[in-house]
Amino acid sequence: MPEESERTRKILIQKIRKAFVKELDKEVTTVKARQYFIEDLNKDFQTAYAIIPKAELQKEGEVINVQGKPYFIFSTKFIDDFKRIRRLPQTIPLKDIGYIISQTGINKNSRVLDAGVGSGALTCFIAHLCKEVIAYDIRDDHIGIAKENVAFLKLSNVIIKKKNIYEGIDETNLDLITLDVPEPWLVIKHVLNALKVGGFLVSYSPTIPQVQDFVNKVLEEEKFLHVKTVEVIERDWEVSERKVRPKSVQTGHSGFLTFVRKLAR
Ligand SMILES: C[S@@+](CC[C@H](N)C(=O)[O-])C[C@H]1O[C@@H](n2cnc3c(N)ncnc32)[C@H](O)[C@@H]1O
Repeated sequence: MPEESERTRKILIQKIRKAFVKELDKEVTTVKARQYFIEDLNKDFQTAYAIIPKAELQKEGEVINVQGKPYFIFSTKFIDDFKRIRRLPQTIPLKDIGYIISQTGINKNSRVLDAGVGSGALTCFIAHLCKEVIAYDIRDDHIGIAKENVAFLKLSNVIIKKKNIYEGIDETNLDLITLDVPEPWLVIKHVLNALKVGGFLVSYSPTIPQVQDFVNKVLEEEKFLHVKTVEVIERDWEVSERKVRPKSVQTGHSGFLTFVRKLAR
């Protein structure tokens, strides 16, 4: 995986501080950031208001002044590039990805299997932190998008296979298996052999009947422990001077996360 310093894209931020509000007939302070992504640092860059000469784009962590307006410029971080990956099938949101990572404690030594890869959001985020991610999917178009995203993020530790996970798992000695497939209960019979003792199986499902069938199947196997099933709820707040309150439009339901642990060989 690339070091943060190897990233070649840049982000240009213009903080707009004042806006004229017609209804109030006055200028009010608003700190609104307009963000631009620059792929080619060898060409002048056009913003909504100005052309930034290519010589200025070489700056890093400095302020660029163009036509009396300040712009901030720095190299993108993994998260900036991650937020721009292509999404075809529905991706697992960051709040759920973060919870999977924190609850399983995966790290730079971990080997992970992810199925189905879909757009590759979970695969890519985990690959950014772990030793290796093997990902399965049955659809060529989804595999194509996921491979594009792996390349866009310059990840070199991802193997994507066209494979139906209901039919089996090739790998063994895995630290974590993540599932985002319609019938996760069909995978359980393959997991014992693939997972390390103490390793985790995490299933992400949008509906409760899927969770019920999955957990009921897990409970049939003595060597598995159903650790918990959770829904992670994120609530965004608006913070503007003394107007501090929950945002009126929030992200709705995403999915339920079920954590299972392998207890014995
Ligand atoms: C919702 S998408 C996964 C999104 C992914 N977790 C992400 O964050 O980008 C579900 C994927 O599972 C794949 N899939 C469905 N059944 C499968 C199976 N039996 N084996 C492997 N992949 C499967 C679908 O083709 C689809 O690409």
